[in-house]
Amino acid sequence: MDVAEREFSDLDELVRGIEERIRKEEREIYTERTLAEAYNPRNVGELGNPDGAARVTGPCGDTMQIHLRVDNGIIVASKFITDGCGASIACGSVVTELVKGKTVEEAFAIEDKDILSVLGGLPEENIHCAMLAVETLRAALEDYKSKDKEVMKV
Ligand code: FES
Repeated sequence: MDVAEREFSDLDELVRGIEERIRKEEREIYTERTLAEAYNPRNVGELGNPDGAARVTGPCGDTMQIHLRVDNGIIVASKFITDGCGASIACGSVVTELVKGKTVEEAFAIEDKDILSVLGGLPEENIHCAMLAVETLRAALEDYKSKDKEVMKV
């Protein structure tokens, strides 16, 4: 092994060490479920011509967008995008799963504590991330309801 190769392997080892330390710290702060949802989120993206849509910016300055597809009053699909933290990605993933198969009224009843219960809790400083997901969902539901009324008027 020449000097350059040794330096590369030292660097690889350093990077691996840092990654391991970060993972260990994350596991001390977040539940396994939160990390799984944050690293492999479901329902990321947008729906073409959504029946309900909203984009909300939370108190931290991060934004979430939720799209809904509603068929006969039942939510059949939901997608989200966020530029927020890992916890907000986990919350978006969970909330877009929770709404599936629910009526619009049932979806309005989803609260941040429902997301927290799926995730097994979040640190105090991340509770607002679950609230952002719920606020965005409710705004998307309101958008759907306002469009639904317009259709009924015609
Ligand atoms: Fe902004 Fe989590 S959504 S810190």
